[in-house]
Amino acid sequence: MARVFSGIQPSGELHIGNYLGAVRNWVELQHRYESFFSIVDYHAITGMYEPADLRRRTRDMAISLLASGIDPEKCTLFVQSAVSEHTELAWIFNTVTPLGELERQTQFKDKSSRQESILAGLLNYPVLQAADIALYQSDLIPVGEDQVQHLELAREIVRRWNSKFGIDFFVEPKPLLTPTRRIMGLDGQAKMSKSLGNTIGLLEEPAAIWEKLRPAVTDPARVKKTDPGTPEVCNIYHIHKAFSSSATVEHVAQQCSSAGWGCIDCKRVLQASMETELGPIRARAAELRAAPARVEDALLAGAASARAIASETLTETKQIMGLR
Ligand code: TRP
Repeated sequence: MARVFSGIQPSGELHIGNYLGAVRNWVELQHRYESFFSIVDYHAITGMYEPADLRRRTRDMAISLLASGIDPEKCTLFVQSAVSEHTELAWIFNTVTPLGELERQTQFKDKSSRQESILAGLLNYPVLQAADIALYQSDLIPVGEDQVQHLELAREIVRRWNSKFGIDFFVEPKPLLTPTRRIMGLDGQAKMSKSLGNTIGLLEEPAAIWEKLRPAVTDPARVKKTDPGTPEVCNIYHIHKAFSSSATVEHVAQQCSSAGWGCIDCKRVLQASMETELGPIRARAAELRAAPARVEDALLAGAASARAIASETLTETKQIMGLR
């Protein structure tokens, strides 16, 4: 069975952008592949952070993932720093990674241009990502568009290691692009992102979600209720496509383009569709929050099964390289 690996930063509670763009897809994949999902806290310390805050964000991410349907019986869910093989293989991969490739990474250029002092960890971030993937000999990596360059580099690193040691040991991973179109933030301007404050949290209460949906940007050309709208240019319509049935989506599009409904009518229907999917997730999250030992046990068991495979890969790697 092909192996799937993906990682998510411990940003705290998921928002619907992360959920639709990644996690909902992972929930599907865990039934079809041998899947590994990691909360990548070693990646999250490449900038400024507070330890207590990281601890809380890691736990909240675990709760969000489990509540979303990531099932520890079906896949391996673990926290990256609980499996130290990740950093060890990352060091090894540093010795086959050309500096120029790291400096060319768009994400590095983007992040480093906004900082005065640039940490080596930020530059080497994609090397750690390559190690995450390679430790499990992963074939398929579900990622969004923005990670494709890191994936290309991971392939390059694996190829270079294989050729340097003259053995076809590491599997070359392939990206598996997430089917859902990227969801814009409520401002309709930028990708939904916690740092931009334009998100809807996966676990938010319906009333709080409505407070955000009500003023959210729709088709900018639709000023009055009597103006017909163009669904395809409306971010709310795209969120409908993710949460509503195809019959509802069709009805919404028709009501919008004929000016039958105003945007508020459309948003009320969306809120109901969202509640159908998110209500049970919110309930599961509340149960998990009340039983922290269950979450902890799931992560410990996940780390143990991840470590079993990771240590085997690393031992073989070191042997081939003449290390102890
Ligand atoms: N860099 C990825 C992101 O920010 C997270 C990540 C870390 C990852 N390691 C990974 C994704 C391995 C896929 C595979 O989204």
